[in-house]
Amino acid sequence: MSISIKTPEEIEKMRAAGRLAASVLEMIGEHVKPGVTTEELDKICHDYIVAHNAYPAPLNYHGFPKSICTSVNHCVCHGIPGPKKLKEGDIMNIDVTVKLDGYHGDTSKMFMVGKPSILADRLVRTTQESLYRAIKMVKPGIRLGDFAEVIQKFAEQHNYSIVREYCGHGIGAVFHEEPQILHYGKAGTGEVLEPGMCFTIEPMLNAGKRHTKLMKDGWTVLTKDRSLSAQWEHTLLVTEDGVEVLTLREEETDLPRVIHHSD
Ligand code: MF3
Ligand code: CO
Ligand code: CO
Repeated sequence: MSISIKTPEEIEKMRAAGRLAASVLEMIGEHVKPGVTTEELDKICHDYIVAHNAYPAPLNYHGFPKSICTSVNHCVCHGIPGPKKLKEGDIMNIDVTVKLDGYHGDTSKMFMVGKPSILADRLVRTTQESLYRAIKMVKPGIRLGDFAEVIQKFAEQHNYSIVREYCGHGIGAVFHEEPQILHYGKAGTGEVLEPGMCFTIEPMLNAGKRHTKLMKDGWTVLTKDRSLSAQWEHTLLVTEDGVEVLTLREEETDLPRVIHHSD
């Protein structure tokens, strides 16, 4: 196995890319409202990323046609922005990946269009909490399975299921690199973390069963049972004594950007 360890120079570039990706999600929030189309949101994000001397990594990635992913309601991930208007009560993940100065920042959050149902709100909050619990465990010496099990157990305790076909990933000069970051599994298994590793955690929780269905466009992933799905994603750096959340947004006041573990 060869998980890359970033040099101090690379880490500075990962910080800058992460900061820019986070700022795209901060910027787009005020544009998310009933009546707006997801391709309008795509255009705004595209122009913002390019204006900041970066490239939207999804665009033309294995043929993906747009600059961000917009995954609405029962869309699990990789939704393609299009002419459909958002409506009151929709929930939507916007997933942004920028390539800045050769390095990637990858992050996503859920947006509520108007007022969500109580069920949708609970799914969205639980999914974010599962990501936060995993991030707070990251430090040198733990294994990938340690936080994967925590995500899975937390989701299942709330009667949600974890999507298995899509996962987090190492990230750096390459968008998707080793290792694969599963969101289910067993503590004590998997790769051991070391300082200088960068990877994403991006759990997808379904209100119904975990199974997914790929649409004929080759990208859009839906829940097979048409139940609601939610996802949140951060890009992380393993430090000497914990973790740095490279894509933290200002609104995330209950997650520190840098976490130190003293043992
Ligand atoms: N940003 C997604 C991830 O978290 C990948 C999107 S690939 C695309 O890994 F081609 F669909 F954009
Ligand atoms: Co992403
Ligand atoms: Co990712």
